[in-house]
Amino acid sequence: MKSLKKIELHLHLEGAAPPAFIRSVAAEKGQNIDGIFDERGAYVWRDFRHFLRVYEAAASVLTTPRDYARLLSEVLAQCADQGAIYAELFVSPEFCGGADLAAWRDYLAAMEEVAAQAECDGIASRAVLTCIRHLDPQRARKTAICAAETSGGWVAGLGIAGAEDVGELADFAWAFDCAREAGLGLTAHAGEWGGPDSIRDALALGVTRIGHGIRAVEDAQLMRDLAEQHITLEVCPGSNLALGLVPDWPAHPIARLVDAGVCVTVSTDDPPFFHTTLSHEYQRLADAFGWAEAEFRQMNLWAVEAAFCDQTTRTRLR
Ligand code: ADE
Ligand code: ZN
Repeated sequence: MKSLKKIELHLHLEGAAPPAFIRSVAAEKGQNIDGIFDERGAYVWRDFRHFLRVYEAAASVLTTPRDYARLLSEVLAQCADQGAIYAELFVSPEFCGGADLAAWRDYLAAMEEVAAQAECDGIASRAVLTCIRHLDPQRARKTAICAAETSGGWVAGLGIAGAEDVGELADFAWAFDCAREAGLGLTAHAGEWGGPDSIRDALALGVTRIGHGIRAVEDAQLMRDLAEQHITLEVCPGSNLALGLVPDWPAHPIARLVDAGVCVTVSTDDPPFFHTTLSHEYQRLADAFGWAEAEFRQMNLWAVEAAFCDQTTRTRLR
């Protein structure tokens, strides 16, 4: 599965940080974050809320543009090793300088340099700037301004992640309107923890993609709407299993979504937190549903069409 060329649309930059990388940055700065690792050095968390806290504790050691440049370099090398030729990374200006535009520009410049070199080496990437739902929607406005002011190059989209049960997606409409006016692609985490209505709330923001969206399977009309409108789901099966949303691989809704005509793609979300890799996801799906190269090629074609990159890059990826 490693050799198959893959497109990954849903990968959180901090969530992809290898624990050893986070430990070494923490050690350089004399920061003690031992509580987030188990005895073998892996991230340890109990449930989704705790996962978000561990994620934020890991991210707290990344305090400079250089830290983020080094992280991006490691993460893109990992993606390439998994056979990915294109990755979209969720990057939050809230973690990169507190969503202050001047600070964000410094972080972005450092990451753009790494991304440009990686693209020459065969792995293209774009950033989807990410609002955090369990933080104040006013802070999301600052994230959207960072996105709008730096759009056009590596910054290609706006998204929202975090705790789906906090607040209303409609509270983030200003941020999504601002990003749309700047020509950015839009996606939102929905239908991971929330039901079909949460996906409808995301559609009302004008997104063309949904992060996860697996609970669309509970609503036949919604699946028809998603199929008709070519809304693409960024499905992360291993994440759903690790977080206890789905009991096992054969029970994962992804196959039922495909059967309903919904465009689905396969991603890893936060791979070291969920003990997965992109090749592992493909292999487990192949085992569970008998999918072979033809099925995965189709999903990667859907991913290329849904990617937030420019048309020249899209043509190259097809
Ligand atoms: N942030 C990182 N991973 C996430 C997930 N699976 N759901 C919501 N927010 C996240
Ligand atoms: Zn996610």
